[in-house]
Amino acid sequence: MARIAPNWVVCGDGAELRRMWRVRSAWRRGPWYRGLRINPYKDNIVSTLDDQVHDKLRAKLVPSYSGKDVDNLHQLIDDRVAGLVSLIETKYVSTETEFKPFDLARKVQYFTLDVISSLAFGKQLGFLSEDKDMFDYIKTTETTLPILLLVTLVPWLLSIMQSPRLRWVLPDVRKMVGVGTVMKLAEAAVAERYGDKPVVKRDMLGSFVAHGLSREQAETETVVQLFAGSDTTATAIRATLLFLMTSPLVYRRLQAEIDAGIREGRISAPITDAEGKDLPYLQAVIREGLRIWPPATGMLAKISDTDQVVCGVRIPAGTNVAWSPWSIMRSQDTFGDDADLFRPERWLDNPAAKQRLMEQTVMMEFVSGSRWECLGKTVALIEFNKTFVEVGLPVVSVVGVSKSVADDPCSCSAAPPPLRLHAARPSKSVEVVQWGRLHPERHECRRHPAESAAVKRRIAWWTCTRNMKWAGIRRLVETGKWVERGKWASFGRIDSWCRATCENGWGGPGAQPST
Ligand code: HEM
Repeated sequence: MARIAPNWVVCGDGAELRRMWRVRSAWRRGPWYRGLRINPYKDNIVSTLDDQVHDKLRAKLVPSYSGKDVDNLHQLIDDRVAGLVSLIETKYVSTETEFKPFDLARKVQYFTLDVISSLAFGKQLGFLSEDKDMFDYIKTTETTLPILLLVTLVPWLLSIMQSPRLRWVLPDVRKMVGVGTVMKLAEAAVAERYGDKPVVKRDMLGSFVAHGLSREQAETETVVQLFAGSDTTATAIRATLLFLMTSPLVYRRLQAEIDAGIREGRISAPITDAEGKDLPYLQAVIREGLRIWPPATGMLAKISDTDQVVCGVRIPAGTNVAWSPWSIMRSQDTFGDDADLFRPERWLDNPAAKQRLMEQTVMMEFVSGSRWECLGKTVALIEFNKTFVEVGLPVVSVVGVSKSVADDPCSCSAAPPPLRLHAARPSKSVEVVQWGRLHPERHECRRHPAESAAVKRRIAWWTCTRNMKWAGIRRLVETGKWVERGKWASFGRIDSWCRATCENGWGGPGAQPST
């Protein structure tokens, strides 16, 4: 538990937080959530502070999000997955003579936005088919969301921005590029469902109408879906693919599970959600991806009207208690000594109690076990079950490491081996060169700063340890010590070698793992 500001603490103890988040507990949503309003003057399901009002609204939304009232939920997701595969295959497969870079980070976001808009509006917004950021939605949300999240932490500023009296001086969100356009599209879609001759359909919007949402509520909740369900899911897919790409053992094991499933007829084309759930290693990969890189890291601050004790510390009434997903998801007590590593095997063959604890902990990312559990969890998990199988498994290609690379003691001047993405069934693959926002830290070789610019253009690394691990793998390739499969048991040793050489700049001065 750490105090981070007056009246604010952050808690990294999963068990304590789960106790606080339980349905009948003294804790409720704090004012932080008010900042999650889209219309500054009206609450939505995520920004509603009053539990009773929230529960009533939630009861009306559950039948749509659970898929109960929706005829074609799985089909819509299948169609969008097919759209992504088709985009890759028609536009981004490099040839011998032409290199076509593929920005995976961005395209995955196109995919999740098209999935959610298909569910929310009944038609995709066309990010994938147009292969572009439609009406600058991503660009504008990327600039406005950080400001929005900052404002959630400054209550007086929030009060000003949400004051109807100051409406005339503040920018009208409906007139903003991107978000405003989506709001207008939502209004148009909702307009068809209300009025004299309403269109009746068994889709999410139809379910909102059938359960008595007012027209204004339906408009707001439709936009909430887009906000809540696109960036989160895209982050989870990107991060998991990235960790797969840089963990060859994991990749091969997952590919083997999928190959066997297809061969033995346990995986249809396209894979169904139920079939995905029956693949133990895929499930382990999904959980490990969510754990190692939590997709939604907002404060989720709760308050209590009475003094409470959390982690043995007295917390005065009215104190905001936020959560720390990074500490919880990397807790060695819960996930083992190697909690910092991406190792899906940790999810297999555990005693029941340990498995339950790990499952409960990772599902905290959806605030499971509380009255505020993410309503889109089912949709997100369906997307994962299908995407990792159908769209692509990354292949770490080690082909083409040149002699000059092998001779370079530092190896920073050479491009790392390309990372490749290929779909489960079709044989084509694409080279991935960009990871977008996933990689804030771009490392430089301290001894060859100029040369590292070339590498930076080519690929970005995301943490020092991972970086070093990859450098370690590369060195094995480059020095001809490319290990056969069995020897990957030494992965742990490579990792510690990587840590040890970290201080010397990446690659290390001639350092070699002990293998
Ligand atoms: C990996 C993917 C996702 C993650 C990690 C995630 C996470 C979260 C979190 C942390 C909350 C806030 C709960 C709270 O403290 O009140 C939430 C709420 C919500 N999410 Fe998600 N979400 C994901 C995907 C989705 C998707 C795909 C949708 C829509 C289809 C969605 C719709 C919602 C809604 C409507 C709420 C409000 C629930 C309520 O207040 O009762 N989410 N989600």
